[in-house]
Amino acid sequence: MCQCEAKDFERIDAIVKRVGSDATKAIPVLQEIQKEFHYIPLKAMERIAATTEMTEAQLYGVATFYSQFRLAPVGQKIIKVCHGTACHVGGAEGLTEALEARLGIKDGETTADMKYTLESVACLGCCSLAPVVMVGDKAFGKLDRKKAVHIIDDLESGGESR
Ligand code: FES
Repeated sequence: MCQCEAKDFERIDAIVKRVGSDATKAIPVLQEIQKEFHYIPLKAMERIAATTEMTEAQLYGVATFYSQFRLAPVGQKIIKVCHGTACHVGGAEGLTEALEARLGIKDGETTADMKYTLESVACLGCCSLAPVVMVGDKAFGKLDRKKAVHIIDDLESGGESR
């Protein structure tokens, strides 16, 4: 086993120890794993199954059933484009298109350098600012295509969107 894998196992084991190891803890354990790794690595499910009452099939079933769980790695920054009703009416489709073109990826994908993941989401809860894009925990409102692209330009130049 390589050192990094041993370290990852330590992080996984610590989560299981903290949250619990019986079968009823599958969801909270996976939530904590995702917080730690930003997605659910297959290796994590194997490790949990090997050290607890939970089975790989159970964990995989939970991880694929709930949309909150990600099974693939994501970029350092997740660009969420709201496609709720107000934002849809305000031009969310155009924002997604502009960001796809700027980042060279499609909605739901991650850039090859693992910097950005672009995703469409439901209402972000700040409809008065529609259309809205969220980067990390920061919301950008009243956007148009140009302003949306500017968010990325700003991030790339180390500006305030960071
Ligand atoms: S619809 Fe976009 S924030 Fe509510």
